[in-house]
Amino acid sequence: MDKMTDTGSASLTIGDKTLSLPILKGSIGPDVIDVRKLYAETDCFTFDPGFTSTAACESAITYIDGDKGVLLYRGYPIDQLAKQSTFLEVCYLLINGELPNAAQYVEFERSITTHTMLHDQFDRFFQGFRRDAHPMAVMTASVGALSAFYHDSLDVNDPDHRRISMIRMIAKIPTIAARTFKYSIGQPFVSPRNELGYAENFLRMCFAVPAEDYKGNPILARAMDRIFILHADHEQNASTSTVRLAGSTGANPFACIAAGIAALWGPAHGGANEEALNMLREIGKPENVPAYVQGVKDRKYRLMGFGHRVYKNYDPRAKVMQETCHEVLKEVGDANDPLLQVAMELEKIALSDDYFISRKLYPNIDFYSGITLSAMGFPSEMFTVLFALARTVGWISQWQEMIADPQQKIGRPRQLYTGPAYRDFVSVDKRA
Ligand code: ACO
Repeated sequence: MDKMTDTGSASLTIGDKTLSLPILKGSIGPDVIDVRKLYAETDCFTFDPGFTSTAACESAITYIDGDKGVLLYRGYPIDQLAKQSTFLEVCYLLINGELPNAAQYVEFERSITTHTMLHDQFDRFFQGFRRDAHPMAVMTASVGALSAFYHDSLDVNDPDHRRISMIRMIAKIPTIAARTFKYSIGQPFVSPRNELGYAENFLRMCFAVPAEDYKGNPILARAMDRIFILHADHEQNASTSTVRLAGSTGANPFACIAAGIAALWGPAHGGANEEALNMLREIGKPENVPAYVQGVKDRKYRLMGFGHRVYKNYDPRAKVMQETCHEVLKEVGDANDPLLQVAMELEKIALSDDYFISRKLYPNIDFYSGITLSAMGFPSEMFTVLFALARTVGWISQWQEMIADPQQKIGRPRQLYTGPAYRDFVSVDKRA
């Protein structure tokens, strides 16, 4: 790696000392000021809680231009990938940097489909959970437990170990996710089928039952595949940064991905689509939209599925998600679903209202994903599990990039300390 170029310098004056800081340029996007020598030369740190102005790594995987509403995986626009590619091809792209040729694709698909089964003892692991456990609790624990089953691939310094661990996670996490769902509804686990595509196999593991033959639906399988593509990576978000930080210590990849799943679970990150769906249900019918929007403008509540920390334009994933939502609802029998009508009315009113326009609030991916997943048969507790399944490839691509980066160091942020300065210990009998 290290494709960044030096394009000049910035001056920083602290007291009577002026420091020259290199300015580095990536292939696109904002330049960065290299502050790596700041502490050594000035005894000062930078202060940036929430990393709003800090690039914590160099990466060549995903690019976002939030003002223009652009998302690229390895340079390819998300809408082109969602419409013309497949999730497995996107996995190959994210991990390897290039789209596969026909032979590479066949080999990659074969390696994934031949690793989808779980160790027989792994199934006993699920029995330890209560049936009403949140599926994300089961996911976090189960994915972490993979490191107890694959001792043969935990050496992060060995490229072969890294490769097989990545394959195992892309292959086995759908099986774990489907078992998490089946366990929560008290149905028997369904084994993977190697002749099926990735999304089709996952839907079968979720919805097939022993009492009848399962008939796959290509439209729903394509929608699932697209949803996986849309969620596959999103640059240095909270869960990806968590994976990188955990990985910077040399922790094994299964443990790192479990850490990412835990971070994704939070309502400010992976949980918003459930809240968007609840909001549409609460509004109930299109006639109630104007009053609801007035409540948002009166700051009684926020419009869920609107706004984004990075996108100050239409989230490019939301456009594809909207189309997918229409296709799914048409297929499962209710193109006039009242929730879809509410969503469309809400979007129309919000996009023409100055409150939203002036704040650059546009629909994000979560606005339509909840309705879509619900129509496909998933309960809302499973939404974040599906997000984790799709994001696994992004996490492992970023993890792999970090491990292979010669500049990589253990992640160790500094702080602005505001606690007590030095003081002597006082024994309990002398304390006030
Ligand atoms: N509804 C109404 N007003 C909003 C919304 C919203 N959804 N989002 C932001 N605003 C307003 C704020 O009140 C604020 O107005 P003000 O300047 O008059 O006080 C202004 O827009 C800026 O808001 P911030 O909270 O500073 O923006 P930030 O970039 O920090 O927030 C966030 C981004 C958290 C996503 C926010 O837009 C939000 O809460 N959205 C709803 C939840 C949601 O959909 N989250 C999913 C994000 S996508 C994902 O995680 C995959």
